[in-house]
Amino acid sequence: MKIVFATHNQHKLLEVQQLMPKSIQLLSLTDIDCNQEIPETAITLEGNAQLKANYVTQHYGYDCFADDTGLEVDALYGAPGVYSARYAGSTNNSGLNMQKLLVNLDGASNRNARFKTVIALNLRGKQYLFEGVCKGKILFQKQGEKGFGYDPIFKPKGFTKSFAEMTLTEKNSISHRGKAVNQLISFLSSL
Ligand code: IMP
Repeated sequence: MKIVFATHNQHKLLEVQQLMPKSIQLLSLTDIDCNQEIPETAITLEGNAQLKANYVTQHYGYDCFADDTGLEVDALYGAPGVYSARYAGSTNNSGLNMQKLLVNLDGASNRNARFKTVIALNLRGKQYLFEGVCKGKILFQKQGEKGFGYDPIFKPKGFTKSFAEMTLTEKNSISHRGKAVNQLISFLSSL
């Protein structure tokens, strides 16, 4: 089976590629010559995942899935949530986003947070949703060089390392995206 993963994010592509069985061939947006930034204008993760998947299906005609991820911080009433990419401005600058989050959490005793990923799958004219959550805490400073986005300041529950200190395999085995993708794979494998 061939399916498009609607992302320009090479880190996400690597994470998902690592989980996919050989029977499912992933095509990237580059593979289908889609170089546009797909608008993410919805106010929920579900909505943005659907927008991205629908864009590819409508404009390029492929079966496709897209993910949208948000970091929900308890002390900030769930922010940055669906606005995680643009938390510190429109440029999706991870350094600035993390800096703003650490400043906004200054003095907060509750540092509980969770990553949530929603995947929208468009397959043979139908749409399906999958979700994965990973609970953890926001660290006081960045730790580690691997990964992307908020990984250096997120420590998953039950672990002493941040996501940015984990290998791809370690992160995938517990992460929000890993959980959502495994559901997607189970569904596709059951067809
Ligand atoms: P989006 O799903 O690409 O819209 O991601 C929203 C924001 O969350 C962006 O700033 C990403 O860099 C960040 N993000 C998405 N997934 C992860 C992850 O697995 N770890 C850390 N940050 C992430």
